[in-house]
Amino acid sequence: MSLKDDFPILSREVNGHPLIYLDNAATTQKPQVVIDAISQYYSNSNANVHRAVHTLAGEATEGYENCRRWIKSWFNAEKAILTSGTTEAINLVAYGWGRANLQPGDVIVLTEMEHHSDIVPWQILSEERGIEIRYVPVLDDFTLDMDAYAVSLENAKLVCVVHTSNVLGVRNSVDELISLAHKAGAKILIDAAQAVPHDKIDFELFNADFMAFSAHKMCGPTGIGALLVKSDAFEQMQPFMGGGDMIESVTTSGSTYQTNEHKFEAGTPKIAEAVGWSAAFEWMSAIDLPAHHERLLNIAKWTADQLREIGCTVYGRHQSGDAAVVSFLHPTIHSEDFARFLDAKGFAVRTGHHCAQPLLNRLGITGTIRASFYLYNTQDEAEKFISTVRYIVGKFA
Ligand SMILES: Cc1ncc(COP(=O)(O)O)c(C=O)c1O
Repeated sequence: MSLKDDFPILSREVNGHPLIYLDNAATTQKPQVVIDAISQYYSNSNANVHRAVHTLAGEATEGYENCRRWIKSWFNAEKAILTSGTTEAINLVAYGWGRANLQPGDVIVLTEMEHHSDIVPWQILSEERGIEIRYVPVLDDFTLDMDAYAVSLENAKLVCVVHTSNVLGVRNSVDELISLAHKAGAKILIDAAQAVPHDKIDFELFNADFMAFSAHKMCGPTGIGALLVKSDAFEQMQPFMGGGDMIESVTTSGSTYQTNEHKFEAGTPKIAEAVGWSAAFEWMSAIDLPAHHERLLNIAKWTADQLREIGCTVYGRHQSGDAAVVSFLHPTIHSEDFARFLDAKGFAVRTGHHCAQPLLNRLGITGTIRASFYLYNTQDEAEKFISTVRYIVGKFA
């Protein structure tokens, strides 16, 4: 049995070839246990949460809250707000914390490496509130300019930074980013969407104020994610959405709110998704993540070296701690054409700007081809990928 056998989709064919799925930075595949847990929930326990006293409602509530317990114990966190994903988690910080704590003229520090989900909410808030945004530049070696970061922290109230780039796979110096932000008196939000699939982060030790991530990038379902929040930052947050489930009492003259995470989870939440995510955590708890991370990084490094030999430009460095993401361009074959030829041979890769246009502008390009590896990928698949790349390049030569 290989890990791959746990994922039904990985035994399908695409265009007459066995599927080789290398688009894991966009979303990972789901093991059968996750699919079964969701199906089982809808077949047996479907009900709304936190409301009725009947048995099904109890099972649904238990399923939903069990996911929160998994998140808290996996990441050693005191507060875990369930969101629809990283994007909603970051928006929750912008609207729940930012609106309540930022004044006109306050400074937020972002970086040129951010995903759009960690840029656009701040631009909207900045227009609404007159907040200044500063961007930390990316250097030619694909790392952040830490000298510029130190300077940008003057009068900053909040830093929002990506842990691991979805385009480059580069892992930023997060410990240093966090400690410098705190020394400057700023809070810090870490976008960990590409980090948590590879690294079991201890949120308490990590010491960031907010951390956002999505289930679907770590074998869980789409439509659910979380925001971890330090207790003092949690107390400074105001609800971003109002509705059922987040209140203590409502009268025609006003409302009072719950004091726990439910305060930020208005409306019927993602119950089936939470049940599926718990199954993913359980499945992943039998996996040696650090060993796989090292194995996958070696595969990515080998792939990057081969692509350079073929004449491609690779955007990334594949050093210890980086994610197994290989972004590249061929000097003459258009990336979309390249990806279509790869798809014709059964390979799934991503092309385009990867929702990181400021980074691509900085690199002087409009898109890349991105192959990203996860737990079920093998060196053998990387070798097949490279021989198909050679075949495609040969056809165009
Ligand atoms: C670094 C990073 N941040 C944020 C996101 C947004 O995640 P989601 O679409 O799950 O909200 C992604 C998704 O690709 C990402 O890679």
